[in-house]
Amino acid sequence: MKKLVLENYGAASIAAADIFAELLREKPDSVFGLATGSTPLGLYAELVKRYQAGEIDFSKARSFNLDEYYPISKDHPQSYAYFMRENLFSKVNFSSSRLPGGDADDPAAECARYDAEIEAAGGIDLQLLGIGLNGHIGFNEPALSYSMSTNLVNLTESTLEANSRFFAQGDIQPSKALTMGFGAIFKAKKILLMITGANKATIAKRLFEGFVHTDVPACLLLLHPDVTVVMDKDAARLL
Ligand code: GLP
Repeated sequence: MKKLVLENYGAASIAAADIFAELLREKPDSVFGLATGSTPLGLYAELVKRYQAGEIDFSKARSFNLDEYYPISKDHPQSYAYFMRENLFSKVNFSSSRLPGGDADDPAAECARYDAEIEAAGGIDLQLLGIGLNGHIGFNEPALSYSMSTNLVNLTESTLEANSRFFAQGDIQPSKALTMGFGAIFKAKKILLMITGANKATIAKRLFEGFVHTDVPACLLLLHPDVTVVMDKDAARLL
């Protein structure tokens, strides 16, 4: 794993945007795997800025998001569909942008359809990832076994609690999600993992111990041949 430690969150977001920009230059019709959460917000703002300045163009590029709550409507302000629209898709020009359908009637069929769509696009060129406090990737929570395919998962108490900050009081927070499995993530040609903030220092330390701890889903990334981890100093302070 290649590790880049930047001075602060802003610099980490710029370094991540540089990796996106370089790939767009090399391969304008790239397929990007995208993530939600607070970590990539700075990166998305930087991509919007560069797009508006005419420095980058997504018109030939496509995107697939990692995950979505289930069940949830696309218009729910806490849905990842809404998050992506607000922060990126309404501001740049991807030729297509997909997320697992949190409003699908048949989640198993939706998962199979999503995997087939990624496959038909030729797989993912660059997969962006954040990391949960418990080491989850997408919504692949710590478990005894991990699904290769997109699948419906039960969220852990720790994840529900970590993400409850986004839901207003009285709003029902879904306890399930549809998440890409390790199959599509591992088939990505390149992986860009962003770890920022002091609260991620402990999980970052476990990741960099050099062991594949199977109770930390992110550790499976140690087995991928092309992973760049972009961090800020706060997240790297225990390394
Ligand atoms: C969510 C998302 C993950 C994300 C993680 C970390 O649960 N499903 O893809 O990486 O949270 O979020 P944050 O960046 O807000 O810490």
